[in-house]
Amino acid sequence: MSRILFVSVLLSSALLSACQSESGPLAPRGALTEEAEIGKSLFFDTRLSNPAGQSCASCHSPQHGFAEPDQHLPVSQGANPAHFGNRNAPSTAYAAFSPAFYFAQEEGLYIGGQFVDGRAATPEAQAIQPLLNPIEMNNANAEAVVSKVRQADYAEQIRRHYGAQALDDIDRAMTIIGQAITAYERSQEMVPFSSKYDLYLAGKLSLSTQEMRGLKVFESENKGNCAACHPNTAGKNGTAPLFTDFSYDNLGVPGNKANPFYMMPARYNPAASAYVDRGLGEVLNKRSEDGKFKVPSLRNIALTAPYMHNGVFASLQEVVEFYNSRDTDKRWEEPEVAANVNAEELGDLKLTEQEQADLLAFLQTLSDGYTGQ
Ligand code: HEC
Ligand code: HEC
Repeated sequence: MSRILFVSVLLSSALLSACQSESGPLAPRGALTEEAEIGKSLFFDTRLSNPAGQSCASCHSPQHGFAEPDQHLPVSQGANPAHFGNRNAPSTAYAAFSPAFYFAQEEGLYIGGQFVDGRAATPEAQAIQPLLNPIEMNNANAEAVVSKVRQADYAEQIRRHYGAQALDDIDRAMTIIGQAITAYERSQEMVPFSSKYDLYLAGKLSLSTQEMRGLKVFESENKGNCAACHPNTAGKNGTAPLFTDFSYDNLGVPGNKANPFYMMPARYNPAASAYVDRGLGEVLNKRSEDGKFKVPSLRNIALTAPYMHNGVFASLQEVVEFYNSRDTDKRWEEPEVAANVNAEELGDLKLTEQEQADLLAFLQTLSDGYTGQ
């Protein structure tokens, strides 16, 4: 079933609310609002980890589509270098468009939320979690975070913008930190909509013949069928496409034996090498959602290798080959979670070599900052 229709409604409401705040994606290019500026300072502040040295941008690097810069590591290393997380860091760009987590009655689908399993309802709630996560920025508590922010050179700016007492109360300060980071995540700097595909949609250039063929493969239900979950069409009111409907699915992605999380101490990973990432099923404590992960945006996808929640695929080509031949080629290992695997929309697409190459060419047009060559 096409999910595109109801998603366009979602997107337009997400965009509308983003535009209402001054830091929405339609703010003038290059201009950050004061709130987004504060958020940017927080996002890049390497003093906010314990020990110091790691910022949000360490794992969400602007040069890598705001995803993990170390492309040889399937997951991320914590501020404490002995610590590794269980998941591949997704891009923070366009993530703030995900609606607050909810269950869509009509479709019978969970939608939205932050993190690949939706466990934080909103970007504001998400943004403060990495600061406290022992396998990420590793602060002992909120007080430790706020006392660092009080000493930062942008503390005065926070007090000017949010009020003289903004940093006095720990809870209020944490809320403000979450709001400011979210403002930056919604700013034109992180969501510029400046890919070759955006320029094509705006009628400013043409895609090459091969990219056009790839776009067809991407859209066609009887070819790639990618747009069923990664919609490439504008929402109502002409809002730009985000290449995700923010729903959840189990693609049957294999486990990743190279994930260092398997070797993490029992305190973090009691199951050791038997660890299975249940995704949404774990959060909801529902077996019927086991193995499902949020559909990611494909914007900047050429810059964010490796791929999938556990980083099991090293290249985009491997991803496309997996979608094409999951059910027919013995090279693919068993799914990490065998329950709830989507057997209808992928697995045996019967794409030719040429069609796969065309699809890859199209995916390359989604990187922001296209300058035209
Ligand atoms: C040590 C690496 C690391 C650091 C530091 C880090 N993140 Fe992340 N981030 C991740 C990983 C890994 C995930 C996916 C985890 C998951 O979904 O369970 C993630 C997920 C996210 C998401 C969810 C994106 C989506 O599509 O749902 C957002 C937003 C985000 N991080 C923002 C931040 C912010 C803001 C900071 C700083 C306060 C930060 N991150 C610090 C690794 C990191
Ligand atoms: C049924 C819904 C669905 C369809 C159809 C679909 N995808 Fe996905 N896609 C997902 C989900 C869900 C994930 C995340 C899965 C995970 O991490 O385990 C994903 C992940 C990806 C990723 C990795 C993203 C990242 O940041 O790691 C790429 C690339 C991708 N899809 C491309 C495609 C292409 C190309 C097609 C068409 C051939 C396609 N998808 C069809 C749901 C879908």
